[in-house]
Amino acid sequence: MSKPPIALEERRSEDARLFSPSAGRNKSDIAAALSGILPIGASVLEIGSGTGEHGIESVTQRPDLKWQFSDPDKTSRASQLAWSELSLNEFPKPLSLDMSDETSRAQITAQYDAIFSANMIHIAPISALHGLADLAAQALVDSGKMILYGPFLRGEASAPSNLAFDASLKRRNSAWGVRDLDAVKHIFAKRGFNVAKLRDMPKNNFILDLSRV
Ligand SMILES: C[S@@+](CC[C@H](N)C(=O)[O-])C[C@H]1O[C@@H](n2cnc3c(N)ncnc32)[C@H](O)[C@@H]1O
Repeated sequence: MSKPPIALEERRSEDARLFSPSAGRNKSDIAAALSGILPIGASVLEIGSGTGEHGIESVTQRPDLKWQFSDPDKTSRASQLAWSELSLNEFPKPLSLDMSDETSRAQITAQYDAIFSANMIHIAPISALHGLADLAAQALVDSGKMILYGPFLRGEASAPSNLAFDASLKRRNSAWGVRDLDAVKHIFAKRGFNVAKLRDMPKNNFILDLSRV
């Protein structure tokens, strides 16, 4: 069986670095939002980092952050590494991490102040969302934050563009789909993440900031 595509857009490349048109548009807003949420010196584990542009921009805006890239996809990890090598900031080597795979998640033994994941949970089977919640319970300090960026469905309040995106994802892969906000909150609440703060972002996207306290 052929592997599913890892991106739904055409990406430009230069050396090993990949450039995502959507990350190019949203990275500065995302980094600014994260900067307002993350404590000074926070260690951040990013899941499904893709090209790496969100982490690079976040650390450019907040050089005190300690950022760990990860992705199950080798080409994406090579891009994250190439971006890291050109950065003035230090980044550890990107990790190969698949949220649907318990053995893969078990390699994380460190504790982080935050886990961040952008645009991953709708382009992966639901097992990846459950695995991400398990990882949050396992790898976040007590005051740690689980931060998701992307579209969500919100019942009758769902944006038409997000409903159309959901339908197009499901046509590509029936296991994919824009996730329901309340269902996502419930999955994390079952692991103790009962506090949820939702922030509107451009183009009907959101930042969902989940914590235990
Ligand atoms: C649409 S891309 C988003 C990339 C980047 N976060 C962004 O917003 O530009 C989805 C990313 O999630 C990764 N991914 C897919 N399934 C995953 C899984 N089960 N666990 C972790 N990452 C996964 C893909 O390899 C890809 O890099």
